Amino acid sequence: MVAVLAVAALLGVSACGSGDDDTPPPSTVEVFTWWVEGGEKAGLDALVRQFTADCPGQRFENGAVAGGAGVNAKRELTQRMARHDPPDTFQAHAGAELIDYIDAGQIEDLTAYYDSWGLRGVLPADLVADLTVRGKIYSVPANIHRANVVWTNPAVLARAGITVPPKDLTAFIADLAKLKAAGVEAPLALGRDWTQLMLLEAVLISDLGPTGFSGLFTGDTDWRGALVAKAITHFTALLSYGNLDRDALDWPQAERLLIDGKAGYQLMGDWAAADLAAKGFPGYGWFTFPGNGKAFQWSADSFTLSTGAANVTGTECWLKTVGSATGQQVFNAAKGSIPARTDVPSTGFSPYQQSAMADWKSGIPVPSCAHGSACPQAWQTAVNAALTSYSSGKDGKILQSDLAQAADLFVRP
Ligand code: BGC
Repeated sequence: MVAVLAVAALLGVSACGSGDDDTPPPSTVEVFTWWVEGGEKAGLDALVRQFTADCPGQRFENGAVAGGAGVNAKRELTQRMARHDPPDTFQAHAGAELIDYIDAGQIEDLTAYYDSWGLRGVLPADLVADLTVRGKIYSVPANIHRANVVWTNPAVLARAGITVPPKDLTAFIADLAKLKAAGVEAPLALGRDWTQLMLLEAVLISDLGPTGFSGLFTGDTDWRGALVAKAITHFTALLSYGNLDRDALDWPQAERLLIDGKAGYQLMGDWAAADLAAKGFPGYGWFTFPGNGKAFQWSADSFTLSTGAANVTGTECWLKTVGSATGQQVFNAAKGSIPARTDVPSTGFSPYQQSAMADWKSGIPVPSCAHGSACPQAWQTAVNAALTSYSSGKDGKILQSDLAQAADLFVRP
């Protein structure tokens, strides 16, 4: 007891509890993500271990809300913001999604940290541009994920005589038909709205090419055009090879169909790489979505400093760890993504991640609406709603007109 009081006195901590001028500053950093299980949790845990080592006296508080792609977390975050109860820091995708928070005055300018931590020189200039609004930088990226990847169960494919990746969409559909003929009832594992949006985006990249696809989000490509109609036809063909309960499944449950051999393929971002390994299925195969060529559909998880954060000092230390080479090494090795920093050695990363690192260097970057880099949240919500109603009714013309109307609200010609 004497020793404890002596230490408390040395640290200037009041032994009388809170309520007087000597109340210690908060030492808990609430970190808000949607990473709660499998590879996502493994990534977060690795980052937390590094934070604990880098930031003595600070404690991590987990504010995670489950739900792939942040569907539930973002709703909860909006409510917390409205009642002025923000977490200290939260996960937000670089690009259009971040602009919502900046325009609403909900996150702080971090430009000075970029200078003192030397981040400008070690992050890709294009990524920094996506994090910058009106000359200020508002978040620290933790990674680069790739969305347009198909994951496979090689044993299921081999049983149907499929040993090489399909070279284009027609060949992919032919392979799905082979699986079906071999008795695999739902060859393509599908999940709810946003995962269907990922599939549609991948098909749009194939049918419109990377430039045509990116133009859908800038007003340069017409959502009402013939190529979008063609992509919807391809998308519909792909859906017909999927599980019928798709609208009720989040991505890990759809992934389970792949692991259990009930499906041969799943289109999913490369958080699946870490998740498949974490769930005891390291023998997965993968290929870039057929017809996407060198397009690398990217998204980046980044962390913010909330306006009104209770523990600014602790959050600064969290952000410093997130942006550090060691933080990015340990986090990404466990998360399936690759470091946003360009100076992290590739040792310790999985074969998939090593291939993604090479592709990121040589590929053509295209953004993702499902994962916030291409479109703001309200646009994404409108597109997800259009896909959900399409999933139950399947009228391609209505889907195309819903998608075009959603774009009209956001893109000014
Ligand atoms: C995030 C990833 C996450 C995935 C699935 C994406 O939007 O960028 O970090 O693993 O959603 O939840």
